Amino acid sequence: MKFVVQPGGQLTGEHRVPGDKSMSHRAVMLGSLAEGTTEVTGFLEGEDALRTIAAFRQMGVAIDGPEAGSLTITGVGLHGLAAPQQALDLGNAGTGMRLFAGILAGQTFNSELIGDASLMQRPMGRVINPLSKMGARIESLSEGRPPLVISGGQDLQGIHYDLPIASAQVKSCVLLAGLYAKGRTSITEPAPTRDHTERMLGGFGYDVDSTNGVIGLDGGGRLVGTSIDIPADVSSAAFLLVGASIAPGSDVLLKHVGMNPTRVGVLNILTLMGADISVLNPREIGGEPVADLQVRYAPLHGIDIPEDEVPLAIDEFPALFIAAACASGTTILRGASELRVKESDRIAAMAEGLSTLGIKNEPTSDGIVIEGGQLGGGSVNTFHDHRIAMAFAVAGLRASAAIEVLDCDHVATSFPGFAELISSAGLKLDAHR
Ligand code: S3P
Repeated sequence: MKFVVQPGGQLTGEHRVPGDKSMSHRAVMLGSLAEGTTEVTGFLEGEDALRTIAAFRQMGVAIDGPEAGSLTITGVGLHGLAAPQQALDLGNAGTGMRLFAGILAGQTFNSELIGDASLMQRPMGRVINPLSKMGARIESLSEGRPPLVISGGQDLQGIHYDLPIASAQVKSCVLLAGLYAKGRTSITEPAPTRDHTERMLGGFGYDVDSTNGVIGLDGGGRLVGTSIDIPADVSSAAFLLVGASIAPGSDVLLKHVGMNPTRVGVLNILTLMGADISVLNPREIGGEPVADLQVRYAPLHGIDIPEDEVPLAIDEFPALFIAAACASGTTILRGASELRVKESDRIAAMAEGLSTLGIKNEPTSDGIVIEGGQLGGGSVNTFHDHRIAMAFAVAGLRASAAIEVLDCDHVATSFPGFAELISSAGLKLDAHR
């Protein structure tokens, strides 16, 4: 599928983007490992999270739904999973593979994790290393590339692990393995990352403590089924936040958006660039902050992006680079080398597409420098990356000619219905099969 976006337009109306991807994965994982029933609403029916459901079904967990974002999971308890008969295929989901590695390292049975062409190239050494220190046995191809072949029946020991990179996936993997380990498992992180695992474990009745930057839990407890209402994904809302900020005349209300402080870097960075975003009706739902966001067009200016915002906005940089392209002056990003190992090398992919559209930019090893200017038209590659595709689609709002966005099938991994929703908001987008 490709998108063809005609230039111009504005975004208006009231919209609710699909459920949070990080929380959707975790709700299925913890619900499956809990004792009793877990009811989930607001679940993201995107391909990544559906793979997580399929993997637990392969291990004998009964999951009804999803239907209109609702799921009922009959948990089997931490020790109730059955050995899968085949490799677990997690599709495009790095979160899926890294969190499953932690869970499966603690099982009595062997398992194998595989994924699509992109996931099979992504680095897994970052989870194999701490899990091995805990006593897990995991084989991979060279440089920690999948498939991951996990030998069951190992006695895991709790460890303290200083995360070498700011990664919520690695943190979560170690904590999930810690549920199965003897004694205490703890981590420190070089910078705060999304804390949905810690919050959700608490919601399932499992004590996780966090003092002086050390996050820890004791193995050997139990999870108790619960109800979880998943808010709209701020990472998906980001495309509308940027689109409305760059397109004169825009005024959009985004409903029920997750506002976890470890996820709102996109709001902080856009606000520093001059965006007009109001946080309305802030509330807390199931241990997670939620709000409605009103965003209106405002002229943006380039900034030096504060490095401490990087982990808090890590998935939103493709969209933010479009904001930078439409801003006056220069935007500088540093300290974001992780962008090179996402679903694609997002620095290289965005640099190439921005150049195609006539925006001057200079990629660096850990960031990019973007000169604001006039976006032109052209045909851009997405490298099969959902967020690159959606970023270049919203660029059409400020382009001088049509933009053709190639290979957009993966948009469904995180934002099913993107083309319909953003067209109803005012983007002149046609999806072509
Ligand atoms: C995620 C963590 C982040 C993020 C990913 C989702 C999670 O990855 O990019 O989309 O759900 O834990 P890293 O942990 O690699 O930074």
